[in-house]
Amino acid sequence: LRVGFLGAPFNKGQRRVGVSEGPQAVKDTGIITSLQDLGVDVKDYGDVEPDNNNNNKPTDDAGDSLHLGPNGERHFEAVLTYNQRLSSKVGEVLKDGRLCVTVGGDHSIAIGTIHGHAHTNPEHQVVVLWVDAHADLNSGTTSPSGNMHGMPAAFHITNLSSRHAKLQDGFPQPSLATIHLAYIGLRDVDKGERAFLDQLGIVNYGMRDVDRLGMREVVARCLDHLSPSTTRPLHVSFDIDALDPLEAPSTGTPVRGGLTLREGLVVVQEAWAGGHMGALDLVEVNPHLGTPTDAAYTAHAAKEIIMGALVGGYSQ
Ligand code: ARG
Ligand code: MN
Ligand code: MN
Ligand code: MN
Repeated sequence: LRVGFLGAPFNKGQRRVGVSEGPQAVKDTGIITSLQDLGVDVKDYGDVEPDNNNNNKPTDDAGDSLHLGPNGERHFEAVLTYNQRLSSKVGEVLKDGRLCVTVGGDHSIAIGTIHGHAHTNPEHQVVVLWVDAHADLNSGTTSPSGNMHGMPAAFHITNLSSRHAKLQDGFPQPSLATIHLAYIGLRDVDKGERAFLDQLGIVNYGMRDVDRLGMREVVARCLDHLSPSTTRPLHVSFDIDALDPLEAPSTGTPVRGGLTLREGLVVVQEAWAGGHMGALDLVEVNPHLGTPTDAAYTAHAAKEIIMGALVGGYSQ
């Protein structure tokens, strides 16, 4: 197994300080060494840095202009220009023949990671498993917050991307039909997002489904629907807030009643067992939230999830 590790210390998709330190917190768990100990060929590509310090100032800083996009998206241009560079970098890792692991940063970075994955090999159809308490499917007009970490999935869906403005050169180009996306873990879905999910018929399993069916069945159904293959590489976008706040307290938009770490591991281990994973995002670890113990505990949960996705866990 050949893996490329990318840090995406970006925070302008939301308003809380500290999520830009997620990549370092996850690295501090010793994950790269742990993977190498298991014989994985890991290359660390370092961080894709935001343009300048100013560009990565927390969005709730007093006096910071919001730079709203055409539909009220906060820091519209900063988010998209960052993601355009991230997309190229993801492409570079994939062209090196490595599974691309991107550690965020807030979830707006999935604009760039999925774009890079989807556009690297145009004959391939990327399929996306989105593991999250949230659908991240808002447009500027449906968003209650204007925060772009609540919007990344919408940029990729062909039927929804027209609701968002683009950069002048057309970035980002959508790459997914509604059948190429499936959700697990939803429990805080906005009204407009629910309407999109229902109208477009996007496969989504919320916590009630997890309770009724059990996680093994939920993942099996999602993977069956997406049917990853050599020409349909799987992209897993894992928001740490999919886990219950008891498992991952240090995150910006925690929602109680979430997945146990075991359930999260069932998702990624089954995805691993099915093969064909091309890229993985692990986002929204914010080591500034909670106590230092909370931060380390959350980063460790992130490590477990990444290990589960790449090698099926420590010793299988
Ligand atoms: N749905 C809410 C919003 O649009 C919360 C989104 C949270 N997203 C996340 N990636 N944690 O603002
Ligand atoms: Mn700090
Ligand atoms: Mn979330
Ligand atoms: Mn998310």
